[in-house]
Amino acid sequence: MSDLQNQMKKAVAEAAVEQFRDGMIVGLGSGSTAALMIKGLGQRLASGQLKDIVGVTTSFQGEVLAAELGIPLRSLNAVDRIDLAIDGADEVDPSFQLIKGGGACHVQEKLVAARAERFVVVVDSTKLVQRLNLEFLLPVEVLPGAWRQVQQQLAAMNGKAELRMAHRKAGPVVTDQGNLVLDVRFEDGISGPVDLERSINNIPGVLENGLFVNLADEVLVGEVNDDLAGVRRLEKAG
Ligand code: 5RP
Repeated sequence: MSDLQNQMKKAVAEAAVEQFRDGMIVGLGSGSTAALMIKGLGQRLASGQLKDIVGVTTSFQGEVLAAELGIPLRSLNAVDRIDLAIDGADEVDPSFQLIKGGGACHVQEKLVAARAERFVVVVDSTKLVQRLNLEFLLPVEVLPGAWRQVQQQLAAMNGKAELRMAHRKAGPVVTDQGNLVLDVRFEDGISGPVDLERSINNIPGVLENGLFVNLADEVLVGEVNDDLAGVRRLEKAG
């Protein structure tokens, strides 16, 4: 990650923490931007600037980090509501449709985002695209015993899918749920995310895909202009 991108992530993570209020149940996303946001939340709880916050994490990463920082946590099943969820994204289009799952956490991330009263997305400006999937591949979590079958089904939908391989471990990435991830490229990108999300999830063996459609309420973008890091609230198109 470049130093510039890091500055943008820090700026937007700081703006994200400003959205938390005392007494909230908050969804805590995954990835490097969300991790900065979780650290900021931990600092505010430790200093007393915020109190009575309960977090619902979206990954093993978030759970470990939040526990280290002393952020009280509950499972999704143990809460009746989530007031606000904040998470990063891999791509954001002008209608606030997203690709997520760069960290293979999109199953729990989507559960938390869908449960939240408000879902705020925090990204650096490199994540803004006109059309999804021209650059970033679409993650699809699959049952280990079904990955080849799902790969073939995706090929029939003009999607070229590759099993995500691990670094510093032999073999594939294994998700927090014990499944595998196919990363998919559609020729010419994704023109109809709403239908595609549903069609992919209809393939037997698919747990969830990384298209987050009509979930984001607000998108905050970290950017650097004239060496100054700042945050812009994105206007939704159409
Ligand atoms: C993890 C995600 C992340 O939010 C996404 O990959 C963005 O990560 P980062 O903030 O590190 O760029 O969806 O599954």
